[in-house]
Amino acid sequence: MTTAREADPLVIRRLEFLGGQASATGWKPVSELPEIAFSGRSNVGKSSLLNKLVRRKALARVSGTPGKTREINFFRVNDAFHLVDLPGYGYARVSKTARNAWRPLIEGYLRTSKHLRGVVQLIDARHAPSADDFRMMDFLASLGVPTIVVATKVDKLSRSERGPTLTALATQLGIEDDQLIPFSARTGEGRDDLAQAVVSLLSQPSWRES
Ligand code: GTP
Ligand code: MG
Repeated sequence: MTTAREADPLVIRRLEFLGGQASATGWKPVSELPEIAFSGRSNVGKSSLLNKLVRRKALARVSGTPGKTREINFFRVNDAFHLVDLPGYGYARVSKTARNAWRPLIEGYLRTSKHLRGVVQLIDARHAPSADDFRMMDFLASLGVPTIVVATKVDKLSRSERGPTLTALATQLGIEDDQLIPFSARTGEGRDDLAQAVVSLLSQPSWRES
């Protein structure tokens, strides 16, 4: 007997790139739709994860040259909500000034966006969180915004490394093991768990009003 494939928690019917916000006071979409933002350091696999989430090959550009995306990119999904791709932070091979340029833009967006419902924070499963990762997690906690944490590139962990590495990562981040979604853009692992988590963030009332 064949079992039916589990229903996709997030069926993508319509997808549009709206544009990029380049500065704290720059263009952004005028809309009442709820927003989910994606945050992580440069090269963490954010564009690859977004493409996997929406099942597109190249919605967000997967880069060979990290640190290229300096804008906040807005995508409208199913005319129902926005996915917000924040610029990757902490790219080492640029000047200190350039490295810190993300702060006003990203922090300004997170602080002021009226329709932000939650943040998906990406952490590379292969490395200990960086100082910038901790700073971002602290910032998100200080805002009180609901946050999902995703461990990216888990296909790069061997079977024996996997359990201990993910447990150690959760401990370092101060979250429970089951609050960390293991994800691989290469194998597709974690896509439906992430989609489910995003849908559930969207179904909750805004944290700003509570
Ligand atoms: P920037 O926008 O440049 O900051 O990077 P990003 O965070 O958007 O990462 P991107 O998706 O461009 O991926 C960076 C590199 O990691 C690319 O070479 C990807 O092919 C690789 N990568 C991304 N996700 C995965 C994954 O799940 N597994 C493996 N093995 N490699 C991945
Ligand atoms: Mg990217």
